[in-house]
Amino acid sequence: MKTKPNRSFLEELISKRRSTRKYKPDNPPEEWINSMLYCALMAPSPSNSQPVRFIRISSKGKRDTLYEALNSGRQNFLNAIQFKEGEKKLKKWITTYYRFSEFMFNAPLLFAVGTIPFYKSFSKKMFEEGLLTHNKKEETSLDITVGLALKGFILKGEELGLGTCILTGPLVFIPNVEEILGINDVRITCFITAGFPDEKPDMPPRKSIPEIISEI
Ligand SMILES: Cc1cc2nc3c(=O)[nH]c(=O)nc-3n(C[C@H](O)[C@H](O)[C@H](O)COP(=O)(O)O)c2cc1C
Repeated sequence: MKTKPNRSFLEELISKRRSTRKYKPDNPPEEWINSMLYCALMAPSPSNSQPVRFIRISSKGKRDTLYEALNSGRQNFLNAIQFKEGEKKLKKWITTYYRFSEFMFNAPLLFAVGTIPFYKSFSKKMFEEGLLTHNKKEETSLDITVGLALKGFILKGEELGLGTCILTGPLVFIPNVEEILGINDVRITCFITAGFPDEKPDMPPRKSIPEIISEI
């Protein structure tokens, strides 16, 4: 008989967490949000540069402008695919990804998350000295850093009973998100929603460990 492995508290927390796309209207307590931000802040970062910034989008005006930008982004795509080969398939993608973006406006908490640019990575220093032909690694480091901060944020949310969802879909519809939000010092990587969950999604299938590990 196969015995179920004993899962630690952390393993349970990690595997129980689901992306939540439907929320109750209630606002989570401020101190809960602060403790999620605290967990984000504790994440590792290159040279301890702590470049991740959370922009809480509370103003109805900003949310409305963002929503309008999402809708005009969708409309621009729909106009551009008219009479194009594969129009039906493209329309399906646009509609699906719109649906997987629009829900963020119904979440009690919505943040844009990004990084400040002044962090001087090793790669940037080498590039500026002419010792590297490109500086692609810097963006990778910053994106990893956002991911690590978000992991702390979403797991603390899970521990508190809050649902979250990371979204990059909206950025495809709204390429000039920084301009829309009136931000010029943060490069936005994604959005994240949070609130009390009003759904209990099943876990989407996961790969097995042998599928993701190889040894050389
Ligand atoms: C970088 C990133 C971008 C994502 N973008 C979206 C998105 O735009 N819309 C959405 O509904 N979910 C988005 N998700 C959530 C994924 O769809 C979800 O994590 C995945 O299906 C696994 O489900 P789970 O989080 O419940 O385990 C994103 C997740 C990540 C990590």
